[in-house]
Amino acid sequence: MSPLSLKPASEFTIPQLAELMTRSFEGYFVPVNITDVIMFTMLRRDGVDLTASRVILKDGEPSGLALIARRGWTSRLAAMGVLSTARNGGTGTWAMGQLIAEAKARGEKEMLLEVIEQNTAGVKLYEKVGFTKVRRLVGYKLENPQVTDDGGANAQDELQEIDIREVARMVSYHGINDLPWQLSGTTIAHHTPPSRAFRLNDAYCLISNPEATDVSISSVLVKARSRGAGLSAVLMRALFARFPNKVWHVSPIFPEEMGVIFEQVGMTRETLSQWQMSRML
Ligand SMILES: CC(C)(COP(=O)(O)OP(=O)(O)OC[C@H]1O[C@@H](n2cnc3c(N)ncnc32)[C@H](O)[C@@H]1OP(=O)(O)O)[C@@H](O)C(=O)NCCC(=O)NCCS
Repeated sequence: MSPLSLKPASEFTIPQLAELMTRSFEGYFVPVNITDVIMFTMLRRDGVDLTASRVILKDGEPSGLALIARRGWTSRLAAMGVLSTARNGGTGTWAMGQLIAEAKARGEKEMLLEVIEQNTAGVKLYEKVGFTKVRRLVGYKLENPQVTDDGGANAQDELQEIDIREVARMVSYHGINDLPWQLSGTTIAHHTPPSRAFRLNDAYCLISNPEATDVSISSVLVKARSRGAGLSAVLMRALFARFPNKVWHVSPIFPEEMGVIFEQVGMTRETLSQWQMSRML
């Protein structure tokens, strides 16, 4: 009998899963410390289905975790990690084979994931089991931007705060079809206060709590009819002026072709990038 087996994650408690995920991402590119609250947010916001997610057992002991999010015919590998002591021994490859077979058996048509480009083992593993690259995803950062009057400070007055659900509707309607899971209108609709959404003419933006020192730009969208006129830059500069002395972040989940909108407001590209990957089932 193979020493490897899978158990539904729903048979474990949230603290157990949070701890296993933290340990499975030991030595990762960014520090990963999953609290119960972070786990609950992943379940709610990203649509992770614990009945389809799996704890990987080796000789009956938990040695890894795969979280699976599901929407319609598509599922997403939301997290995959193997304990450092069990890595590079075929566990990841075996688990991926099982997860793909299970997704097919559920009647799904496509599986998605994102993997850090610099993560050699991860990229190799996913390509080996049939995933192909859709596009590169990039992130940006900008510390304490100074906004002058002609650079957007005046536009502040035109900023209108709107319901986050309105941004979600706009993204679903005007955004590209195969946006990464976390940027999709469905995910955006699950963001809640203290995150806030703003509109300036035909440009829309969702940001994390602007009272904090570090603020994340979680969505930027310009209605199709108004693209190419620099509206997104006007909106972002107005936000920089409205919430001064912040460190602004864009996490590496944005399509590389969108990078120009962050570059034009002076943001610097982060070194870590990701591959958005897909596998038909
Ligand atoms: C990525 C990860 C899940 C792979 O699990 P694993 O059990 O080590 O996978 P496998 O042993 O089946 O190895 C998969 C492939 O990666 C290669 N590999 C494993 N570790 C490697 C390393 N450190 N450097 C380069 N290649 C590596 C293996 O050789 C294998 O390729 P091969 O079959 O051509 O030899 C595991 O390394 C891990 O948990 N890493 C930390 C968390 C993480 O990065 N998760 C993925 C992000 S979404």
